[in-house]
Formats: sequence, C-alpha cells, structure tokens
Amino acid sequence: MGRVEPVSFESRSGRRLVLRTCEPEDAATLVEVTRDSDRTAMEFGVTLPAERDLSIERRAELIREHLAEPDWLALGAFEPGSQGAAAGAIHFATLKYQRLRHAGTIGISVCSSCRDEGIGRALIAVVIGWARAHPTIERVGLNVFATNARAIHLYRSLGFIDQYVQRGFVKMGPGEYVDDIRMELWVKDRSNPTA
Ligand SMILES: CC(C)(COP(=O)(O)OP(=O)(O)OC[C@H]1O[C@@H](n2cnc3c(N)ncnc32)[C@H](O)[C@@H]1OP(=O)(O)O)[C@@H](O)C(=O)NCCC(=O)NCCS
Repeated sequence: MGRVEPVSFESRSGRRLVLRTCEPEDAATLVEVTRDSDRTAMEFGVTLPAERDLSIERRAELIREHLAEPDWLALGAFEPGSQGAAAGAIHFATLKYQRLRHAGTIGISVCSSCRDEGIGRALIAVVIGWARAHPTIERVGLNVFATNARAIHLYRSLGFIDQYVQRGFVKMGPGEYVDDIRMELWVKDRSNPTA
C-alpha cells in the first residue's frame, strides 16, 4: 500500500500545507488541480481537456488504485484539516511487468496561484524519500517538454539526469512540434544491490 507519513510544510510565501497521501475523499479538490492545470499549463501537457475523465468518481477510483498498489504513490499538498483544498499533487507508478517494477514515473502539477513557492520541490522530495526507503524501487523517472524551463530547472536541481530526447514527440498543431525529455534519478546504489 503506497502511503507516507504526513509532512507539515510552509511554502515560500508562508502558505501552511500538509504533504500527505491522497484519500478518495480528496477527489473533488484534486480534480480542481487538474482543471487549473488545463487552464494554465496546456503548453506543457499531452492530454487535452476533452480527453480526460474529470469526474470525481474516476479520480476517487484512481486514488484507490494508488492506495492498493504497494509500489504506487499519490500525494497532495493540502491545506490543513481533514479535507483541505489541494495546492498541488504528484503521483508515482510503476509498470506491472516484473522486469520493470524497479522503476516508475512521476506526474506532477501545482496550482497556478501557488507555483514557484517550493511546493513542487517539496512534493518530489517526499516521493524520492519514499522511493529510497522502498524495498524494490530503484529509479524514479519523468517526462518533460523541452520547452518547460521551470520544470526542467526543478528536476535537474533535484538530481534528475537527462536520459534521452524524443525529437518532435508532441505535435501541438500544424507544423508545431515539441521535444520530450526523459529524466531519471537513481534512488539506490546500483553497485550494492539488495533485492
Ligand atoms: C512544474 C511545477 C510542477 C513545479 O512546481 P512548483 O511548485 O512551481 O516548483 P518549485 O517552486 O518547487 O520550483 C520551481 C523552480 O523553478 C524556478 N523557475 C521558475 N520559472 C523558471 C524558468 N522560466 N526557468 C528556469 N527556472 C524557473 C523557480 O525559481 C524554482 O527554482 P528554485 O527552487 O531553484 O528557486 C509547477 O510549476 C506546475 O505545475 N507547472 C505547470 C504544469 C507542469 O509543468 N507540470 C510538470 C510537467 S513535467
């Protein structure tokens, strides 16, 4: 079961938040994070709003799936209180093939009114800490548009290394392509395998 102990966090602007595991009851506020991202960061995402199921039921189901899988994790940065509003969210999932279960991918979004306050950095740090302590996860990866300077700065500063670039991976519109960068962070010592 993918869970972490809640962590109290104060953002750069003095916003008090709790970084904790998402529960099905958080579905409505987490849908709002996605809606905000669709409004404000479409240039950095693959999925179009019309291609998403933004129902609260589907989000609650996704949260339950993350809770049920021992090597998946869904976290939010929430205002304190049992069902506080979410300022951002991150999830980590592995593929279900035995030979790929040592590695997973994160997806992250922070609300437009809360960006550049250190919330994204704090969420990723919790995932890295959880992955380091996890018995089987060795590598945390992500994909980022080559145009997303803020995100690339953040990931590199946390130690993620560029692995490869897929040229023209995304077609934004007629004749308009964006490269996609795969980045990875090893969270275990590969020269000293334990599992
Ligand atoms: C990318 C995202 C998750 C980062 O979360 P965040 O809370 O804004 O990030 P943080 O505040 O922790 O860190 C942002 C860093 O980028 C820096 N930054 C901001 N704009 C920048 C730019 N144009 N170029 C380079 N660095 C930039 C900030 O100064 C900060 O760095 P610092 O901590 O060294 O000062 C968030 O901004 C977001 O959701 N963006 C829209 C959706 C998106 O891009 N998702 C990621 C897809 S891979």
